[in-house]
Parts: sequence; C-alpha cells; structure tokens
Amino acid sequence: MTFNFDRPHDRTAVPGEKWGRYAGRDILPLWVADMDFAAPPAVIDALHQRIDHGIFGYTEAWPSLNAVVIDAIANDHGWQVESEWLIWLPGVVTGFNLACRAVGEAGDSVFTATPIYPPFLFAPDNSERKLLTCPLELEDGRWQWNREATEASLGARTRLFMLCNPHNPVGRVFDRDELTWIANLAEKRDMVICSDEIHCGLVLDEHRPHIPIAALDSAVARRTITLMAPSKTWNIPALYASFAIIPDAELRRRFRRAMRGIVPQVNVLGMVAAEAAYRDGDTWRRALLDYLRGNRARVLEAVATMPGLRTTSPEATCLAWIDCRDSGIDDPAAFFEHAGVGLSDGKGFGLPGFVRLNFGCPRATLDEALSRMSDALAEHAMRMR
Ligand SMILES: Cc1ncc(COP(=O)(O)O)c(C=O)c1O
Repeated sequence: MTFNFDRPHDRTAVPGEKWGRYAGRDILPLWVADMDFAAPPAVIDALHQRIDHGIFGYTEAWPSLNAVVIDAIANDHGWQVESEWLIWLPGVVTGFNLACRAVGEAGDSVFTATPIYPPFLFAPDNSERKLLTCPLELEDGRWQWNREATEASLGARTRLFMLCNPHNPVGRVFDRDELTWIANLAEKRDMVICSDEIHCGLVLDEHRPHIPIAALDSAVARRTITLMAPSKTWNIPALYASFAIIPDAELRRRFRRAMRGIVPQVNVLGMVAAEAAYRDGDTWRRALLDYLRGNRARVLEAVATMPGLRTTSPEATCLAWIDCRDSGIDDPAAFFEHAGVGLSDGKGFGLPGFVRLNFGCPRATLDEALSRMSDALAEHAMRMR
C-alpha cells in the first residue's frame, strides 16, 4: 500500500490550533507539534466503525487494547510490559503533572534539562514543587548531557528526574550509555524517573534505536514512570489517548491516588484509534518515517545556506531546533512570522535565540516556508550592509 504524504489538506476547513492561529493571514504554520497529514486509513476506518455503533457509554481500556500496546512495545523496543502496569491517561502532559504530584511532597524539587517542551517547565510549580534545571550542551554537533553540571544542579530534596526521550526540541535519541548514567544517578540520589517517550515511534536514524529507560533493568523499571502515546506517531494528538507504564505497585498506587476524582477516563474514540494504530499502523508509520527523512534533508540543506542560522540533524521527531543567535535578529520567531512562516519561539523552551520548525507537512509547504525564510534572511543581510 502506498500513502500520499504530498497531498495537501485544507486544515482551515475545521477548527484547529495550528492553522487557526494564522487564520486569514499568509503565514505557513510550522509551529505546534502536529503534522499536516491525515491519520492512517486503518485508524480512520476503526473510528468510522465505532461511530456507526452509535452508543458512546463509559468505557475502560479493554484487554485487546492493552494486548496490542504490549505487543508493539515488545516488538519495537524489546521491553516486556505487563498489563497491570498500564494506566490510560487523557494526555502525556497530564501524566508528567501527575508524576510531580505523586512523587515526594510539596517543597521538594524536580529536575529537568533545558531546552525542553514548555509544559515540563510549569509542571513542578503546578504541584508546589521547585523546578531545577541544567542546560544540555552542543558538543561535536550533538546535544549532550553535561554530567557534572547536571549532578551539581540537583538538590537534597530532588525527588523526581523528568526526562524527555526522544527529546523535544533537540531531537536526540539518548543512547544506552547516557540512559545508564541517568539511571545510576537516580539510584544514587534516590530519585524517581519520569520518562516522556511520546516521540518513540518517530526515530529517523535507523542505527539509533529508542531504548525505554525502564527497559535497562528491573531495578530501573521499579523507579520509573514511562509515558507513551500513539498521538505523535500516527498524528492523532487531539484524540487524547496516552498511557503511563509503572511497574512498581507502590508507585502505581501513588500515581492513581493523585488521579482520583480529577483525571477522567480516556475518550473511547481515542482508545479505538490507539488500538488500530498500534495493531495496523506500522506500514503507514514506516512510510511516514521515509517521508520525514526526506523533509529533514531539505531542512538541513536549506538551513546550511541561511546566513547566521545553524541546526543539528534531529535523530527523531519531525522537529528541527534552529540556532539563530548569530543572525543579528533580536526576535527570530517574530522575524520569520513577519516573513510568512510561523515557528515556535525558543524562549518558551528556556532558550531564547532559537526557533523550532515542525517539518511534518507536505514537501511543497516545507519548500515554500524554507524559501520564505531564505528570502527574508537575504533581505535582512542586505539591509544590514
Ligand atoms: C515531549 C512531549 N510531551 C508531551 C506532549 C503532549 O502530550 P499530550 O498532548 O498527550 O498531553 C508533546 C507535544 O508536543 C511533546 O512534544
């Protein structure tokens, strides 16, 4: 079966954040992390069938849903998960906020490395925890952990280490050595790890497999809350079906306690879509990854010619993290928006001077956006002369 990722879709025909932000303006939205591709046919068919049933009563996750998720994780990542470890959630952001609430107590601290997907930065405070951060550093063309600085930034009351792997926005797939170092640090400092692995289905570098940190060994698994979802991989984020994997019974109890009366069950349509995606979506996913690799190459090629801009090759995700600090432009997100391209501002990720470009769109849209960026930069360079 072939899938046509070049096909344009009029996303302004329905309400939606990505295109709605610039309604009526000639600005191509390459910001929020959803893609301009229709979901896989298998997912759409499953949704049609469920809708045709006509009754949408309260529904808990069912055995065949858990079974396909467990199979997919075993096949893709070599990690054997048990059904009772799964807790379905209406969102991964919900999951890491719950982790902040379930681990330690008010006044404790939570660590995360920056730059980072913005809701990580607010989650600790939402649960009266203190946020501690340390920057990732660019070394040899890859974003890396500064291990000494990371350890030094932890406090006596740091109870939770929030990891994002694959990483948004820098696109790294952390390797076994890095993950083992994090796991050892968590053990030494008696921290729980909350690992947001929402992008694990979007690994672009075939020689860098995603390793769930909890899959390192059972001791690491016991101190880890892993968060996953079909939402990024199969482009169904507004269906809000996600899950936590918590092998330790006591940690699971604390997590459920934090949910009680506040977090609802997952929408039945989200779970129907999730089951179809994990069971029947792999051919589509592989075709998508090929297409995204092509788009990534376009971005890398174009950015290399843009004066004052540089980027690294994202190992996973459909996101390019672009350093504009040498361009002489004060507010690059505003500059490119003015040029007709809507990007995410690095400021919100804790690193001003950068922008994040989402290349999950038809190639024609991407090429047009890159050419607008190039033209605007050329004009800017002329004016600066
Ligand atoms: C790393 C990461 N975590 C979580 C989310 C959002 O998760 P959800 O919409 O399930 O809350 C995103 C969306 O971009 C993300 O990039």
